[in-house]
Amino acid sequence: MSTKQPVEAQPILGQRGKEIQAYGTLTRYPLGLSDEARAVSVAGLNQILADSISLRDMYKKHHWQVSGPTFYELHLLFDKHASVQTEIVDELAERVQTLGGIAIAMASDVAQLTRIESPPRGREEVPVQVSRLLEAHQHILIAARALARKAAELGDDGTADLVISEVVRANEAQVWFVSEHLVDTPLVRAR
Ligand SMILES: [Fe+2]
Repeated sequence: MSTKQPVEAQPILGQRGKEIQAYGTLTRYPLGLSDEARAVSVAGLNQILADSISLRDMYKKHHWQVSGPTFYELHLLFDKHASVQTEIVDELAERVQTLGGIAIAMASDVAQLTRIESPPRGREEVPVQVSRLLEAHQHILIAARALARKAAELGDDGTADLVISEVVRANEAQVWFVSEHLVDTPLVRAR
């Protein structure tokens, strides 16, 4: 076996290069939308994207760390909600790219952008877990409705539609399912 012959099939490893698009800039696709509409939508979508990634991760944290008599049910519910949030995250990120923007992606960048209060690393009681989730949902819902209105006003109906049909509807439904766990109702004997 000769070691002198260069191996053409050798992958070129360890490469780095310059960015081809800086975060915060927009490439222009022929979408028939104004620069203002695209800029407003991309900024709003990235905010909701960062908050949705945080919420998704919080659902996973609680899925793993949940405790007590409702452990099994909440363990499953939290995971189901995390899966739905993962789909929403993908839709939001791809909408940002569709508009020529750059989707926020990495955990360290998300941590800087999100407005969701970060829970401690340790484990918390179920009512606290649930409260944190509901606050995060409310944050997203308020921002999503505002973005949908603004985007529609500027002619970006695609973003308005995505935000209402995917983000708002799913978050509202998840708020219902999670909120009911904070109703103080007797388990065995009626009052
Ligand atoms: Fe799991």
